[in-house]
Amino acid sequence: MEFSIRSVAPDAARTGCLVLGVYKAGAEGGHALTRAAQLADRAARGALQRVLSQGDLSGKLGSTLLLRGVHGLAAERVLLVGLGEREKFGEGGYRDAVRAAANALRDIGAQHALIGLSELKVGRRGLPWSVRHAVLGMRDAFYRFDQLKTAKTPPAPALAEVTLLAGAQPIGAQSQAAKKLTREAELALGEAVATADGVELARTLGNLPSNHCTPSHLAEVATKLARQYKLGLEVLERRDMERLGMGALLSVTRGARAAPKLIVLRYTGAPRKGNPVVLVGKGITFDSGGISLKPAAEMDEMKYDMSGAGSVLGTIRALAAMKARVNVVGLIPACENMPGGAATKPGDIVKTLDGQTVEVLNTDAEGRLILCDALAYARRFDPEVVVDIATLTGACVIALGHVASGLFANDQKLANAILTAADDAWDRVWQMPLWEDYQEQLRSNFADMANIGGRPAGSVTAACFLSRFTKKLRWAHLDIAGTAWKSGRDKGSTGRPVPLLVRFALGYADAQGARA
Ligand code: BES
Ligand code: MN
Ligand code: ZN
Repeated sequence: MEFSIRSVAPDAARTGCLVLGVYKAGAEGGHALTRAAQLADRAARGALQRVLSQGDLSGKLGSTLLLRGVHGLAAERVLLVGLGEREKFGEGGYRDAVRAAANALRDIGAQHALIGLSELKVGRRGLPWSVRHAVLGMRDAFYRFDQLKTAKTPPAPALAEVTLLAGAQPIGAQSQAAKKLTREAELALGEAVATADGVELARTLGNLPSNHCTPSHLAEVATKLARQYKLGLEVLERRDMERLGMGALLSVTRGARAAPKLIVLRYTGAPRKGNPVVLVGKGITFDSGGISLKPAAEMDEMKYDMSGAGSVLGTIRALAAMKARVNVVGLIPACENMPGGAATKPGDIVKTLDGQTVEVLNTDAEGRLILCDALAYARRFDPEVVVDIATLTGACVIALGHVASGLFANDQKLANAILTAADDAWDRVWQMPLWEDYQEQLRSNFADMANIGGRPAGSVTAACFLSRFTKKLRWAHLDIAGTAWKSGRDKGSTGRPVPLLVRFALGYADAQGARA
């Protein structure tokens, strides 16, 4: 799908479908047409207003009505989209409206659409924000994962080109302010398309089942990215991990036939001396639980347990595609967690890369075991900051559901930077405590620590475990167990938190100089 931004008169625009927003009727009655809808309505001699007054569209947020052959308009179709009450319209509403429009556009024959929603003022956000979220919302709705279906039904949608309306904001006008806004909007468009490509990569990797998405497959994807974008790549094999002493990572892969990989992918977009942002992604391509076997119901969903890894690959892809001026190292410990004759058993004690010993009381708490060695390994890159991303605990899903990812950090400035990026990307997170008080839950009689901390505050004790390996780092941890994928009828990977990570990394780019 191709995107562009233009400032055009909505009534004169030749397009397969003109998408216009309509607020819900206020207390005084009558629909509140948005500016673009008003202009179109005037050209159509009140035709839109008439449709609404006859009760054919409530204006309820996310409702849609498709009109064909409206006289006075150059557009073949008009899609009216309800925005809800004007006073309540904000970021969430804007995103819902874009999604509703996208869903409607998916099912019609239009090859081109002019989206009038992008000119709307959304809270305190500006045009670049609206542009980014329009692109991401459209691409999200048009995403399909049918590569493993032999019958591709329904057929691919017709829509190939989308123009975002810049409205009253004078795109293309000559004043200094207008030029600046034009440049910002174009930059936002490029950033959004690259981000959407990154989200798509993460989603597809998440959706691929574990017999396709193996640790080797993740390494192949990294190899292709490295070739395409001239990234640095190193893939550590089992013998490298043995030589280094990554006893925790090795203990997780013991029961598996698939070979483990530690993928190191480097994007150098800023001067070489700039310390990198290191992103560490949990890459368990299947989590059976190991000897502490999970129940059979919904075990298939543990193919998503490499979503952290997928988000790191997606983020690096996005940053490289937009030539962001930042240095990023992606670190992906990848393996399967399987039972078997050689598998690690409850009670086994392993030695981590940084020398601390761990009593593995539950082999299903494997994420922290592969991450602790990767986090210890991260030190050698002399990172500016380290952020790990992991589908780490079911407890985080209980705490925050599918709305917010859990955020833990040993540095509040870093936490704030992530909170800001998350808010901007509307890829939201909620900060959780990392207080010392929780550490005692990890006490072990036989080793330096246990790998589980009991049922209370399960996502916090998992983070506390990781914190023991990041004392010398500015470090944050994102528990994405509830946000990286959806279950139920719409089961599938979401591509979160790629939008957040891209925004976050760009924050460091801006500090090091403007983007290329
Ligand atoms: N990958 C799971 C966490 C998970 C659970 C992600 C549900 C998404 C949905 C992780 O490896 C795990 O099994 N965690 C255990 C930890 C427990 C044994 C301390 C959990 O959350 O139950
Ligand atoms: Mn597990
Ligand atoms: Zn897991």
